[in-house]
Amino acid sequence: MILIDGKATAAEIRKEISEEALRVYEQRGYRPHLAAILVGHDGGSETYVAHKVKDCEEVGFDSTLVRFEDNVSEAELLDKIQELNANPRIDGIIVQLPLPSHINEQKVIETIDYRKDVDGFHPVNVGRMVIGLPTYISATPFGIVELLKRYQIPTAGKTCVVVGRSNIVGRPLSILLSRKGEPGDCTVIVCHSRTPNIQHFTLQADILVAALGNPHFIKADMVKEGAVVIDVGTTRVASATAKNGWKLMGDVDFDTVAPKCAYITPVPGGVGPMTRVGLLYNTLLAAERKIYP
Ligand code: GUN
Repeated sequence: MILIDGKATAAEIRKEISEEALRVYEQRGYRPHLAAILVGHDGGSETYVAHKVKDCEEVGFDSTLVRFEDNVSEAELLDKIQELNANPRIDGIIVQLPLPSHINEQKVIETIDYRKDVDGFHPVNVGRMVIGLPTYISATPFGIVELLKRYQIPTAGKTCVVVGRSNIVGRPLSILLSRKGEPGDCTVIVCHSRTPNIQHFTLQADILVAALGNPHFIKADMVKEGAVVIDVGTTRVASATAKNGWKLMGDVDFDTVAPKCAYITPVPGGVGPMTRVGLLYNTLLAAERKIYP
């Protein structure tokens, strides 16, 4: 069994990105620049956005954090997005999700200029991903594909089972892995909350991706001997022994599943660090005008 080290791989990619960022700076006189909008004080969102700002710093990007209270109006939020769209010094824009229920998330996503949509959530970028045009691949699918690539895990002709159909992970990943190319050329099965007998499908997986957000859902008797298992779960559960009072739990029952695997990602230290790097990668692409010259 080979443990896929997302932390080390992410560090490698950050180094590559920081070298490129320096080149951008030398060429145009200002650094790649990410703007992040955070609404409210949700603990998870606060942590994620703080990581994004810190990651930018580490690779030599500028970042701007715009904060609003929970009761910000949709109009005010959309105005701010328009302002950032029009600012030529801002390369990438993200609005941390979820948003309060009085704000229409889809409207927010579609207000971001698709050329600055480094989350890859805008329908233009999703559409381009589906038909295989250059685009911003959203961060978690990017991270998973990059791990498969860097560990040289063969994918062509393999059966890949994705458990979870979210717009952010399961659905885009299922499309990426069924596209032509390497990694890709998989036969993909998507399982979800309405799939009867999920085990019937997961047992067929050469590559099994668990992205449903249900801690330790994938047990050893659901996994084929020699499978590649990618755990996207990051559920916070209370922990008396953890410093901050909680720990991250994956969707895979690691201790019993790992011995059956050819490769497996741990939680933490697997997909998570790669997701963080995905946003940096897209911001670099935006600064270099690689997708939209
Ligand atoms: N909330 C959870 N994941 C994400 C993400 O990748 N981007 C944004 N903007 N919000 C999120």
